Amino acid sequence: MPAVIVLGAQWGDEGKGKATDQLGQHTDYVVKFNGGNNAGHTVVIDGEKYALHLLPAGILSEGVTPIIGNGVVVDLDVLFEELAEISGRGVDCSRLLISANAHIIPAYNRLMDQANERARGNNQIGTTGRGIGPTYADKMNRIGIRIQDLFHPEALRAKVEAALAPKNTIFEAVGLPTLDPAEVSDHLLSFADRIEPMMCDVSLVVNDALDRGETVLFEGGQATMLDIDHGTYPFVTSSNPTAGGALAGAGVGPTRIDCVVGVAKAYTTRVGEGPFPTELDDEVGEDLRTRGGEFGVTTGRPRRTGWFDAVVVRYAARVNGLTDLCLTKLDVLTGYKEIPVCVGYELDGIVVDEMPPDQVDFARAVPVYEMVPGWSEDITGCRSFDELPEAAQAYILRLEELVGCRISSIGVGPGREATIIRFPLLGE
Ligand code: GDP
Ligand code: IMO
Ligand code: MG
Repeated sequence: MPAVIVLGAQWGDEGKGKATDQLGQHTDYVVKFNGGNNAGHTVVIDGEKYALHLLPAGILSEGVTPIIGNGVVVDLDVLFEELAEISGRGVDCSRLLISANAHIIPAYNRLMDQANERARGNNQIGTTGRGIGPTYADKMNRIGIRIQDLFHPEALRAKVEAALAPKNTIFEAVGLPTLDPAEVSDHLLSFADRIEPMMCDVSLVVNDALDRGETVLFEGGQATMLDIDHGTYPFVTSSNPTAGGALAGAGVGPTRIDCVVGVAKAYTTRVGEGPFPTELDDEVGEDLRTRGGEFGVTTGRPRRTGWFDAVVVRYAARVNGLTDLCLTKLDVLTGYKEIPVCVGYELDGIVVDEMPPDQVDFARAVPVYEMVPGWSEDITGCRSFDELPEAAQAYILRLEELVGCRISSIGVGPGREATIIRFPLLGE
């Protein structure tokens, strides 16, 4: 299986970092294809925890070449802080490559993120405040600053000046500080020497690697339900975390992909605002948050929690053409007598089993639950499907049936080793 996409099948934080790390040990390249430091991917190796935001989780696997693709938006301050932190912990970061076409998050877009949220009043998205949306907006508006611009100082200065002038007017209007274009440009240009050895044509590197028969993993940030096209718009991020985004965000064609792995929790979480039909806005949800340690890696915000929504994950299976599902955090469900699974939504007395095409309907969808028996045995030590209690096996098989996609691996703990591999994808 030389080309594998790993992406989120719910609203983010499904455990993509762990899944990437696991497969990354059998991979030559790991390419991050979308998003930026709004992501927070956790990997736990020998009890040591790493939280990665901008760097691909594959950087932690020895021998892997980590790549930041053209679809990523890069905060250069964060990039070098994260590199310093990770290499300070003994990780070899020397092979990191970055696309010449990737867009940079200038300081003014972090401010724009704040300005936009303020302007939304009661309809805030609850962004991570990292400048992600405004940077993708500039990209689409063709006023973005790219990695390659760092090597053309005069042109970069002119671009910064043009992009910043109207934003300064907005900052003034909403009571945020204005920025000096010369200072912004000087700061960006100060990174040029360090970026130069990393800059490349990612599409060429990746396609050459595939031609040589090497293995490439495409690591998605965010998730299907946060996709700008397929998610719960406008409560989404500003990129395509779906499989199509991997192609555009790294410069590979669909014919090169062998396997698309969706990562889903055995229940559901969401950070930020927006509809979430199976949300448990009560002490049961609070309990699930505590059991699962559901607090954001990037912002520390408590995550909203709810039961597994099979409609959402089946939708993700379709939108992404999933070949496999990696189900995480099954251990967190240990101890429930019965586990509700959402199998459809009720709308005006009618039960539907697909995502409603209209977001207004989705926001008022009432989940229809099927009760699946729970288990009480500790499963954190299980390493094969057969070792799981019968009820846990039945839960997996029922989810598989409802989603219409095989569950290839099952997470039973945060550690690298705490995984049941049912169907190996890369010889793991
Ligand atoms: P990502 O953004 O998709 O990479 O996920 P996050 O790292 O934001 O959140 C997932 C959290 O769940 C992290 O704290 C992981 O260490 C943890 N985790 C991942 N898989 C499992 C699992 O199978 N069981 C348990 N208990 N924790 C897990
Ligand atoms: P990983 O990769 C969960 C959410 C934010 C907000 C919305 C828009 O760790 O799964 P943005 O800053 O992107 O404009 O915010 O998207 N969000 C995430 N939620 N996991 C993430 O990343 C997220 N990245 C963004 O909370 O609701
Ligand atoms: Mg996360």
